[in-house]
Amino acid sequence: MSLQRMLKLLYALVLCVSANEDFDWTKNERGSFYYGTFPTGFSWGAGGSAYQTEGAWDKDGKGMSIWDVFAHKKGKIFLNDTADHSCEGYYKFKDDITLMKDMKFNHYRFSISWPRIFPNGIKADHINEKGIKYYDDLINMLLDNNITPIVTLYHWDLPQVLHEKYGGWQNASMVNYFNDFANLCFERFGDRVKYWITFNNPWSSAVEGYETGEHAPGLKLKGTGAYKAAHHIIKAHAKVWHTYDTQWRSKQKGLVGISLLADWGEPVDITNQRDIEAAERYVQFYMGWFATPIFNGDYPQVMKDYIGRKSAQQGLGTSRLPVFSSQEKTYIKGTCDFLGIGHFTTRYITQKNYPSGRGNSYFTDRDLVELVDPRWPDPGSEWLYSVPWGFRRLLNFVKTQYGNPMIYVTENGVSEKVQRCTDLCDEWRMQYFKDYINEMLKALKDGVNVKGYTAWSLLDKFEWDEGFSERFGLFYVDFLNKNKPRYPKASVQYYKRIISSNGFPNQREVQPILFDPLTSHMEMVTEIVVPTVCTLCILLAAVFLMFLLRGRF
Ligand code: NOJ
Repeated sequence: MSLQRMLKLLYALVLCVSANEDFDWTKNERGSFYYGTFPTGFSWGAGGSAYQTEGAWDKDGKGMSIWDVFAHKKGKIFLNDTADHSCEGYYKFKDDITLMKDMKFNHYRFSISWPRIFPNGIKADHINEKGIKYYDDLINMLLDNNITPIVTLYHWDLPQVLHEKYGGWQNASMVNYFNDFANLCFERFGDRVKYWITFNNPWSSAVEGYETGEHAPGLKLKGTGAYKAAHHIIKAHAKVWHTYDTQWRSKQKGLVGISLLADWGEPVDITNQRDIEAAERYVQFYMGWFATPIFNGDYPQVMKDYIGRKSAQQGLGTSRLPVFSSQEKTYIKGTCDFLGIGHFTTRYITQKNYPSGRGNSYFTDRDLVELVDPRWPDPGSEWLYSVPWGFRRLLNFVKTQYGNPMIYVTENGVSEKVQRCTDLCDEWRMQYFKDYINEMLKALKDGVNVKGYTAWSLLDKFEWDEGFSERFGLFYVDFLNKNKPRYPKASVQYYKRIISSNGFPNQREVQPILFDPLTSHMEMVTEIVVPTVCTLCILLAAVFLMFLLRGRF
């Protein structure tokens, strides 16, 4: 074996060993920056969702979703806004693809509106060919521009009819209705779409839709509603995965995953066992609720224990957390080709007992309190603090808990409150992207299997119960103008630079500088012109000196 090959082998071995090392939770590398690039083929993109961006809420045969109805009720949404028009993405998708192309995106994540395809929720009733055509055109144009579509089947917009007739996700019949919808999408789009996400952030659908009522359909079934909804959602996810696996996979060769939102939970006191357990419970009740059945076959033990015990104390005969039969467990386990992770923020967690009683809810079942450090930056949404190191911890948690699955980061980003965004200079967003993407790079170095990153979001858009008051976009959208023009914020240039460098190869590439022409000019003067002139001067001086010395001797 040549020396070169031996060295290569040794290098590969070192890489393997370091990648397989477990994440050291006690090490504090929170402040350090890691220079390096992502593996070749790493996929960069941004995303949005149907209800948040499309508009055209009652056009071309679309049926109503629970969000159309919810947003039209007074007092549900900030300033009573609705997404009736939003970004008018239904009409402007070609312009948007031009923006993506300019940023050299590898993928774009969007969702299909179920009631745009089945206006009454049910296949037997009516298939809306105009809705199909819209998504056909969108997919085709993305592919023509070498942008891979990553398609979510459910981003919260359940057909209203299914809610009225059956109670939506409280009812087991949703499993088959959703499967029919997904099956039609595979049939009509699956020749071109290779990345499917069944559900986006089912935690929100379950908790905010059926427990707190802040989201559509606005039910407040405390202590039971969220668990029941989640139970049906998990079964629906598994059924759709099996449908793809048995009917489409061999022909279409795509992947089916789910996208879970998860904050990281850090113990307030890392030497206190009760805080450590409370922090783990926080993550288990959040992401583990969905991920553990899908990867390991059943709900997290800690959820079964806590909810079971509290239900018994309430005098209930069975747990408020539904139970999977053994056949269901086998059917659900392993139904994930890739895991989508949506991550925005972190909380400190400490233990707190909530005595069981009639006031039981998902939140009190966890026996914990969430805290934040007031020094954490929070430029926009009140829940969103920038805590980059939590991202790396979360990704490592996923790696160890679920057998190092293939991960796509399906959402990550930061918002600003409407009044702050007048000048498009979103330096805090550049800082957020820089720090979070860097933590993702460190996680890759830890051996986490991340394949792609989706900035959230491409455009400012309807932010659910917050209406248009929280802007997550790389592009500013002027909602007051009928044409909904898009304007690039400074972070567009910054994200573009990360994409073109495939990470942070050196110091020069990482500065979130503001990209106005003057700054770029000054950067050129200081970084190129000054060193070049200096080098030339030194060379000239050396030559001059040589001549001088020759003359003397
Ligand atoms: C997660 C949701 O999936 C997305 O629609 C929303 O815009 C972000 N959270 C930010 O709140």
